Amino acid sequence: MQEKQINIAFEQYSSIEELLPEDRELAAEAIKAMAGSYAPYSHFNVGAAVRMSNGQIVRGANQENAAFPSGLCAERTAMFAAGAKFPDKEMVSIALCGGIYGRLTESPATPCGACRQVMAQYQAKSGKPMSVIMIGADKVWKFHRVDDILPLIFDSI
Ligand code: THU
Repeated sequence: MQEKQINIAFEQYSSIEELLPEDRELAAEAIKAMAGSYAPYSHFNVGAAVRMSNGQIVRGANQENAAFPSGLCAERTAMFAAGAKFPDKEMVSIALCGGIYGRLTESPATPCGACRQVMAQYQAKSGKPMSVIMIGADKVWKFHRVDDILPLIFDSI
């Protein structure tokens, strides 16, 4: 038996102002995207923004539904819209944020497992790393590839 470890490297910033200009722009788009959230049940508004390889940014926000499984997270709303709009372009980066009644969480909002799996698929489709930026009021995290937030990704088919 060998004991193994998985180490995850990520960057922490004190605010989106500290990010590189492209990331800062994407983070600002994710914050703006929260305005499109429809969350009458949880009141947890989430915004996401995807940067494509052609420089275009596509926004998404969570959409809830009385038949609960029918709703969708902000990240998948953004990625599916981006995939449908720019099927031949790669997703380079995604930023997300959220909070009750639109008030940003202090710690960065983190994507659910289903959204991570969808990120993994689009990263695999592009063949290049897709970075993930998680925004909170007190700090911001940047992960350079989806593998870092979904170790041992299922990508066997
Ligand atoms: N939500 C997202 O939009 N993204 C996530 O990664 C986690 C959760 C949404 C779903 C639901 O509308 C609300 O947040 C509360 O769970």
